[in-house]
Amino acid sequence: MANNINLTINGIAVNVEEGQTILEAAKKLNIKIPTLCYHKDLCVAGNCRVCVVEQVGNKKLLPACATPVHEGMEIQTNSLEVRNSRKHIIELLLSEHNADCTRCYKNGNCELQELASEYKITNPDFIDLVPFKEYSYDDLSPSIIKDDSKCIRCQRCVRTCADIQYLSALSVAYKGDEMKISTFGEKPMNEVVCATCGQCVIHCPTGALTEKNYIEEVWDVLADPDMHVVVQTAPAVRVGLGEEFNANSSGRVTGKMVAALKRLGFDSVLDTDFTADLTIMEEGTELLTRLKKAIVDKDKNVKLPLFSSCSPGWIKFIEHTNTSMLDNLSSCKSPQQMFGALAKTYYAKHRGLKPEKIVSVSIMPCTAKKFEANRPEMRDSGYQDVDYVLTTRELAIMIKQAGIEFNDLEEEKFDKLMGESTGAAVIFGATGGVMEAALRTAYELVTGREVPFKNLDITPVRGLEGIKEASVVIEDALPEWDFLNGVELKCAIAHGLDNAHKILERIKTGKANYHFVEFMACPGGCLGGGGQPIPTSPEIRKKRMEAIYAEDGDMPIRKSHENPEVLQLYKEFLGEPLGQVSHKLLHTHYTERERF
Ligand code: SF4
Ligand code: SF4
Ligand code: SF4
Ligand code: FES
Repeated sequence: MANNINLTINGIAVNVEEGQTILEAAKKLNIKIPTLCYHKDLCVAGNCRVCVVEQVGNKKLLPACATPVHEGMEIQTNSLEVRNSRKHIIELLLSEHNADCTRCYKNGNCELQELASEYKITNPDFIDLVPFKEYSYDDLSPSIIKDDSKCIRCQRCVRTCADIQYLSALSVAYKGDEMKISTFGEKPMNEVVCATCGQCVIHCPTGALTEKNYIEEVWDVLADPDMHVVVQTAPAVRVGLGEEFNANSSGRVTGKMVAALKRLGFDSVLDTDFTADLTIMEEGTELLTRLKKAIVDKDKNVKLPLFSSCSPGWIKFIEHTNTSMLDNLSSCKSPQQMFGALAKTYYAKHRGLKPEKIVSVSIMPCTAKKFEANRPEMRDSGYQDVDYVLTTRELAIMIKQAGIEFNDLEEEKFDKLMGESTGAAVIFGATGGVMEAALRTAYELVTGREVPFKNLDITPVRGLEGIKEASVVIEDALPEWDFLNGVELKCAIAHGLDNAHKILERIKTGKANYHFVEFMACPGGCLGGGGQPIPTSPEIRKKRMEAIYAEDGDMPIRKSHENPEVLQLYKEFLGEPLGQVSHKLLHTHYTERERF
């Protein structure tokens, strides 16, 4: 058991566990110490020195984020020397920085700007040095913009991409004054082993890494009376968007989000949750078909475990890193792309619209969805299936630009036809949600009974643990599925690409044997996606997750196969899961990519 340590901070006594840092001890006393290179998700780097504090009796200032507490320490966080040093450090950072805040995408939500404001850095000697240097600006990726002139070399992005996402697409190049954050061979982001997940974006404290935004393009189509603009909203957006408006702490703003989208002028406000339910129908059938081939037909070529395919960051990751396992991926498109393909076919037909007059916009918690929408194979409707992808953050900007008082909005409901969904769909936004939704449906299809978990809550697949495992034994299967009697259906869940890598290694080395694995690129699943509000932290992910399961619990229908609009879609248009029309519109194939 850890010993406790007594120390004082600014003369106030505090008792904390051994091993904690001065920063953590100060937090306990509600004393704020500024930080820049520190982030709760990441290992400590201690390289920016903004967090320096004074220890009585020690001539050197100490970095609070990297210094463990000792018994009897006397710390000052607000002495003259500390304040002057901090100010000087911020001035030095700004001296190498293109501090043109009014033309910066991060203006208003930038940690460096906030510190410069707090410390009133007004001396132009420090601010105006940068025009003499040349920096690279990379906007070739459809998802992410990298602007080196805004970089303070804190390396949060480097640690994020290496430790959370395994890929190390970003690394430190050169030394001293020349040091910069770069990619393999200094290639553009769209040519390297980048999953486009945006985790570096939500961890970057400045405007050096941002999403590529499509706000102006969407304003333009909304202003065009000839175009019919449909919008879909992903499950995780409704539990993140409120943070941009300091909305109430329950986290769920579904009805207000719908009302805001209607006020922005979208012709139809629909729900990606509808195609999340559809994904379960298609992917669940695919799983059962593969199991049948493996168990009944003894087909050696059938690939198990089946890997989920709704996270485009995960898809790009496996395309770069494990090309020999691409056939394990479900052929289902993500819910976003299923929606896009249906918007310009089924929806167009139903509403009597020409598909070329439909603009399909999606609101996603994700930057990888921007890449996904631009994949050349995502044109099965005969047009680009999804025209523009906006992140939760971009939607918040549009709502603010439109002068909408978000918190005062009356709640509204999604429009009909592709706007109806179930509790199983909304939990797609959390790690484990796809698995839980699939099990609720697959178990019931096979046995005719509800999955044997109280209130349909499959708790073993819930929570923020990096890798989760669960199994369900199939008993008393319906005659059609009697080959599954006694089968223990083994499942695993990984979120964050480092965890995905660990599970893939377990499978490849024969250390684990699963039937179905859910992979999500981002920590926490989509609720922690690279397009969600900044900051995103472990506490914030937990809060968003609670909101997702609360939304599920309140839904009148909680199983995908009971979604009336999905049943109508099969009856009127698709025929059956994995049928001919489904194959054409809802399924896809994958691409082998380079490792670097
Ligand atoms: S990164 Fe921050 S400090 Fe730098 S220009 Fe942008 S808003 Fe200003
Ligand atoms: S790109 Fe952002 S996170 Fe990476 S080193 Fe620069 S400022 Fe830090
Ligand atoms: S988007 Fe994701 S994979 Fe690409 S550099 Fe950033 S963290 Fe790494
Ligand atoms: S935040 Fe402590 S050294 Fe950077």
